Amino acid sequence: MSTPEPRSEAAHRVLPGYYNDLPGSLDHAWAMMVRGAGDRRSGFHTPSVATVDEAGEPSQRVMVLRAADPAQRTLRLHTDVRSQKFAHIGRQPRVSVLFYDAHAKLQLRIGARGQLHTSDDVARAAWAASRAQSRLCYEQGLAPGAEVDAPLPELPVDRRFAAADDGQKNFAVLMATVDRIEWLYLAIEGHRRARWMWSEGGWQGTWLAP
Ligand SMILES: Cc1cc2nc3c(=O)[nH]c(=O)nc-3n(C[C@H](O)[C@H](O)[C@H](O)COP(=O)(O)O)c2cc1C
Repeated sequence: MSTPEPRSEAAHRVLPGYYNDLPGSLDHAWAMMVRGAGDRRSGFHTPSVATVDEAGEPSQRVMVLRAADPAQRTLRLHTDVRSQKFAHIGRQPRVSVLFYDAHAKLQLRIGARGQLHTSDDVARAAWAASRAQSRLCYEQGLAPGAEVDAPLPELPVDRRFAAADDGQKNFAVLMATVDRIEWLYLAIEGHRRARWMWSEGGWQGTWLAP
């Protein structure tokens, strides 16, 4: 008896329900972002977030996705008020968020308008819900990205999981309101690419050639 070739296995693969379903693909895009916020093992947990700097140059970095809300069209991320990205978004609120999950074979390119929250109810609620280990990042006296003569001293063991509350003044929430989603699903049967734009109170979608 011969072993079946991988090619014939692929021929009998059951395609996901959203494969040829435009609204279904949009629902799946949001479901992936919602899941990514809660699942540290998901590729969607740590998207790349791009901003535009003062010289008009693109600038990107990995950030943790804290929440995704399809009804509000928002993504929530946390950062330091002293960071470069905070200054970038203060000047130019457009951000681009890039997700890729190798297991799901899905890339999402998100266009959004960023809004920064400090010392308001949104920031207070996010700070209250954040873990001590996450709060620690905001405590250091030096601004992130400040030049230092030598690596900073190692944190003593008893400080690694026990943050005081004095990081809160440096803490900011980046709320990104999504108005553009570009989808690319990789499949041996044929890739699927689509785009949705938020317009007149709804998502207007179209398939694109991959
Ligand atoms: C896995 C991972 C997760 C990160 N999560 C965050 C985050 O949630 N917020 C943040 O401000 N920086 C986060 N960073 C650090 C940023 O990538 C970046 O180095 C830092 O924020 C400085 O960026 P900026 O100078 O462009 O502001 C993360 C880095 C990695 C590798």
